[in-house]
Amino acid sequence: MIRERARTGIKGLDEMLDGGLLVGRPYIVSGTSGTGKSTLAMHFLLEGAANGERALYVAIDEPPNEVRLNFAKFGWNLDGVSVLDGTPDVLNYDKTPVRDVSSERKIVSLGKVGDAIRRTSEKGPTDVTVSTLQELIKQEFKERKYARVVIDSLTSLKHFYIRTSEEFATLQSFFRTLSDLGATSILTVHVPEVTRPGIESQLSRGEIRLHKWFDGRGLMRGITVEKYRGSSHDSRMRHMKIAQTGIVVPVSDGGKRKKKGDADSERTPERPTPDDKKAEPPLPPPPENGEVDIPPSQSAGRTGSAVDPKGDGGGPQ
Ligand SMILES: Nc1ncnc2c1ncn2[C@@H]1O[C@H](COP(=O)(O)OP(=O)(O)OP(=O)(O)O)[C@@H](O)[C@H]1O
Ligand SMILES: [Mg+2]
Repeated sequence: MIRERARTGIKGLDEMLDGGLLVGRPYIVSGTSGTGKSTLAMHFLLEGAANGERALYVAIDEPPNEVRLNFAKFGWNLDGVSVLDGTPDVLNYDKTPVRDVSSERKIVSLGKVGDAIRRTSEKGPTDVTVSTLQELIKQEFKERKYARVVIDSLTSLKHFYIRTSEEFATLQSFFRTLSDLGATSILTVHVPEVTRPGIESQLSRGEIRLHKWFDGRGLMRGITVEKYRGSSHDSRMRHMKIAQTGIVVPVSDGGKRKKKGDADSERTPERPTPDDKKAEPPLPPPPENGEVDIPPSQSAGRTGSAVDPKGDGGGPQ
């Protein structure tokens, strides 16, 4: 059965995902701090917006004005992405019955968010629950359906729990709500240096893991697809770069040749020459004690077709 795919907007990653994410399902993007989770998530929303889809960014880690400023450096037009301020103080400040909140709240265009730092609630975030946000998103979907949703980050959202004994059931309900709403969603998850798959990974339909580590060439980045239910995928690590215009993951040199003028093609050579090979040695395994948590096997192949991970994404960042 052929399912519709939601492209992430990062060509090499879409290739790893056999065309993109399966529509209407929740996925997680995980990695240590600064690996590019938020940036990848915004690529995904911008790709949807560019194709006329409604895209919603739920800001939990940082208020929308800071998010806009963070992404301004990539020169992206964020007008097509809507933002819901889900930072704890705002949720808490509005913690009146959700039906009241929904009539007052406004989802605004991220590109039009002002620079002013909004006030902070006097209350702490301890009264806020995942359910608050879940209900809020449901209410918003009654007004308007979104094809793509990003929750950035699920890790911060989890900190709003009062009782950790309810964590699994609450998270399960949250994932189910996102599925029921029909949106393809990405939830970002911050992981510590050494980690095992968590509840989020278990509940999601797939996990994209971002890696970074240092070697003789400086800061290196990599990307793996750790899990993808219902689809084949590339199980090897590819290089990744965060360049001036965003994330670049090289595409394989077989089959899908890019058109001239394509933004990514400027940075990803078609087929490495012997000189390229000299300049870009194969991706070295991340050190055991480095910033990469689960060094993926370099020898594993694709669960489907073979893909060459070589490209120009391997230079220091
Ligand atoms: N213009 C740029 N050129 C190169 N690298 C950049 C550029 N802008 C940002 N970066 C890199 O991207 C990183 C931040 O990416 P991002 O915010 O997406 O990471 P994150 O995984 O969401 O981090 P966190 O866990 O803190 O939320 C920075 O630490 C920096 O290394
Ligand atoms: Mg982030």
